Amino acid sequence: MNRLHDFYCRSGHWRSTLEQLVSWAIAGVDLGAHVLELGPGQGLVMPLLRSRTTRVTAIDKAPSAIRALGCQPGVGLVRGDATDLPFAAGTFSAVVAFTMLHHIPTKALQQQLFREVFRILQPGGVFVAVDPQFSFGLWLFHLGDTYASIPPDAAAFRLASAGFRNIVVERRPGFFRFCAHSSGAADVERTNPTKEPSGFRF
Ligand SMILES: C[S@@+](CC[C@H](N)C(=O)[O-])C[C@H]1O[C@@H](n2cnc3c(N)ncnc32)[C@H](O)[C@@H]1O
Repeated sequence: MNRLHDFYCRSGHWRSTLEQLVSWAIAGVDLGAHVLELGPGQGLVMPLLRSRTTRVTAIDKAPSAIRALGCQPGVGLVRGDATDLPFAAGTFSAVVAFTMLHHIPTKALQQQLFREVFRILQPGGVFVAVDPQFSFGLWLFHLGDTYASIPPDAAAFRLASAGFRNIVVERRPGFFRFCAHSSGAADVERTNPTKEPSGFRF
């Protein structure tokens, strides 16, 4: 992350914004007993996650994130890459990613991440994420940093391509969230377009 981004992600303003976004993203979702958080950064929502499950494992590629999270009961920390997850198939009941997907630099790597998440989820497991929608302001904010925003219109198609089912994508001003399951009815007609929508930038 660039310095401005890193500074803002440690702020009280971001903490309260993130808490609202995460509450929205996981509302009504049964996360099960063992949750993997991708890219926790400073771990601002770890207490919220801990209140919703028995055990959390967090993986971040930045040593500073692993240091920030420190030692917490019921929380396992791994330094690693979310596009190449060092976990056995079917390990987790849920995987969550909060404002981290746009830091995966290419569409191909984002698809690899989706496939990896699908692999390490238990049958019936759930993948929940919230990410910002593209804006010029955010593009500026990420100058010198990675900013590969996922178009919300393409999210369901891309998740379905990675194997996910029962996919729901919702928007609110500035952000979108999705919830996708590792098994269940295909539900292609309602939620999963058979072709990636055209006309978006990537
Ligand atoms: C914008 S921060 C979000 C942090 C936190 N989720 C939040 O919302 O405050 C993105 C985080 O994802 C991590 N990250 C980026 N690419 C990653 C990858 N390939 N594997 C694991 N973590 C990654 C970064 O190190 C950073 O901690």
